Amino acid sequence: MKHQILVLAVTACLSTGLSAQDKTSVPQLGKASIDEVVAAMTVREKATLLVGDHEFDYYVNGTVKDEIPDIAGTSAAIPRVGIPVTYYTDGPAGVNIAPTRKGTDKTFYCTAFPVATMLASTWNPDLVLKVGEAIGNEALEYGCDIVLAPAINLHRNPLCGRNFEYYSEDPVLIGKTASAMITGIQSNGVGTSLKHFAANNQETFRRENDSRISQRALRELYLRGFEIAVRESHPWTVMSSYNLINGTAASENYKLLTTILRDEWGFNGFVMTDWMRLKIRDIAKQIHAGNEMMMPGYPEQIDDIVAAVEEGRLSEADLDLAVKHMLEVIVRTPRFKGYKFSNDPDLAAHAEITRTAANEGVILLKNEAGTLPLSDKGKKIALFGYGSYDLFAGGVGSGEVNAAKIVNIDEGLRNYGFSLNKELAAIYEGADGEIGISPAYAAMRAADSDIAIVTLRRTAGEYVDRRAIEGDFYLTKLEKDMLKNVSEAFRARGKKVVVILNTGGVIETSSWKEYADAILLPWQPGVEGGNTITDILTGKVNPSGKLTMTWPVEYMDIPSSKNFPYDFEGNSWKAGPVRDSFDPAKRNIGFTEYEEGIWVGYRYFTTYKIPVSFPFGFGLSYTSFAYSAPKVVAGKKGSFTATVTVTNTGKVSGKEVVELYVSAPEGGLEKPVMELKAFGKTGELAPGASETVTLTFTTDDLASFDESQNCWATDAGTYSIHFASSSDDIRESVPLKMRKRSVRTVLTKLD
Ligand code: GLC
Repeated sequence: MKHQILVLAVTACLSTGLSAQDKTSVPQLGKASIDEVVAAMTVREKATLLVGDHEFDYYVNGTVKDEIPDIAGTSAAIPRVGIPVTYYTDGPAGVNIAPTRKGTDKTFYCTAFPVATMLASTWNPDLVLKVGEAIGNEALEYGCDIVLAPAINLHRNPLCGRNFEYYSEDPVLIGKTASAMITGIQSNGVGTSLKHFAANNQETFRRENDSRISQRALRELYLRGFEIAVRESHPWTVMSSYNLINGTAASENYKLLTTILRDEWGFNGFVMTDWMRLKIRDIAKQIHAGNEMMMPGYPEQIDDIVAAVEEGRLSEADLDLAVKHMLEVIVRTPRFKGYKFSNDPDLAAHAEITRTAANEGVILLKNEAGTLPLSDKGKKIALFGYGSYDLFAGGVGSGEVNAAKIVNIDEGLRNYGFSLNKELAAIYEGADGEIGISPAYAAMRAADSDIAIVTLRRTAGEYVDRRAIEGDFYLTKLEKDMLKNVSEAFRARGKKVVVILNTGGVIETSSWKEYADAILLPWQPGVEGGNTITDILTGKVNPSGKLTMTWPVEYMDIPSSKNFPYDFEGNSWKAGPVRDSFDPAKRNIGFTEYEEGIWVGYRYFTTYKIPVSFPFGFGLSYTSFAYSAPKVVAGKKGSFTATVTVTNTGKVSGKEVVELYVSAPEGGLEKPVMELKAFGKTGELAPGASETVTLTFTTDDLASFDESQNCWATDAGTYSIHFASSSDDIRESVPLKMRKRSVRTVLTKLD
């Protein structure tokens, strides 16, 4: 083996025209300073490093083609100065690489963790951190250096195709959840890529669309989650988004990528583009703006950079700074450190982490007269709905994960010991999609079963937005008839109906929820889905998840509803929108007006008292909780500590999420009636047990963005600090007096 390495090393030198002796005189990364290495590199070498090296057939400087098949991208090696290849893998729900490889019968399956929305639904950053640790470990042991996650674009509209990969409609919940994920992944010594920066809130023509947003909505909503995550968890990289913001492409936007990201927030990694695949950006502008790396990378981009320097369109100082930022990250990578990865992560342990995390992300939306839990194993279950036998464990696109096996709902129920109606199972096993259930057939099943469970499923994904039509946001007639027929048949015999929503995003529920005695929302729960759902159905685990976005009555109730391509038919599932239907002058296609401003989600529905089907922050438990002894104490330098005691007043143990909302004093800027500023979760509380939950926030956290002064401002006056179980269930409130207005100006505007 040694002999081979020697030959390889000598060959590498010779291939760069250097003798072994010369190589020692060339500064080497990790031995010489980064500045010395940069100074020793040629312009072409610098350009090569800034261009991803995976999408094209010829491989620059030694990237081993297909060392990790289907990995999202790599950076090029520059052996002459000791720069290795580094490997970047998707995604937010786990490592996304091919499960098999030529020449070996070893497999490379990964763990499909719960989708991002479900992780956020736990309202438990400590748990999210554990998932991040597992994802980071899987990336490390499969030889990857950077995980292209978390994805944290705000849920502006429920029809965005990638909302399952994103967390919430609220920036504080987004930022805290993202920070936990980043910290968890990076604890393994691999990096993350916080994405898609910024305001990529639709998939339709995502590369060309111009997000037109007020400065206040940008600062308070669309940038705020990124700001919290960058300041609190220091992601190694950020991925700029495809879209434009107020007319400037995010990846060409100096104010966004340098003034705000670096100068205001202190980011110290490097920025990569999203996977452009279209030559519609100016590479000199991108590098000058602070977008160091071009992904997935094309050979001609190397020539473009060299030409830009030669023609003076790109200064060599900007080029050097970009290379320096990249090298400062590369020296931290496992590849640079020569980590010997095993290709054998502990998938069994990670499956357990998935199940535990998913258990806390399941949301109980309805539970009339104690329909759940199904305490008695002997119950005969009539299991309806195609999704009961073919679970959507995750969404579609780069956020997919190749898992070896998904536990479906029927399997999870059988694992527990329930007997499922065999005839019904056979019908679904033979189907290739949803099937109609007639009143007569429902009556037959009501006669020979104790309870009905009906699963409704939806999936969505990258490239394509969902639509406000039957079969997507709305149920199909077939689905509604199934629910109605099953409900009427089982209720005629005094038997109950449980509906399970296996979805990555919001659907309409108001028109049919009276057919269900209980409604469970397990989202897209990952590999252990069927076991997770059974854990909750049986009460083995008491549900403690809460909604991270509003579930409206109608799609058009949503403030952004008309400023979204909710009815665009030009999408094709895999390839995204049909190119020639692009029209830069067309609303919601060439540009999208964020006309609603800050009025997104509960900020809008609570302030304007618009009825919803299920509110932000809502989730039931099998037990109940009382809040007492609310207190807010001022600390040093504008910090505050809020405490409240939570007592389990029910009969079974459980966990409670405490949501802290703040109502600002009247006057000045128009503000939402309340905004989430902190949250926390109790441990498992036994019946009668209490826990004091401690939450912190600062004066700056209470600020609103004042466009007229281009500053954050916390007005003087009396604030109300609310301790709530949901945005529509405030339990305790205390006043908090701010003696004087405090102001923090920002450095720029994205106009
Ligand atoms: C995709 C996605 C991004 C992903 C990248 C690599 O287009 O927008 O989230 O990380 O390409 O697959």
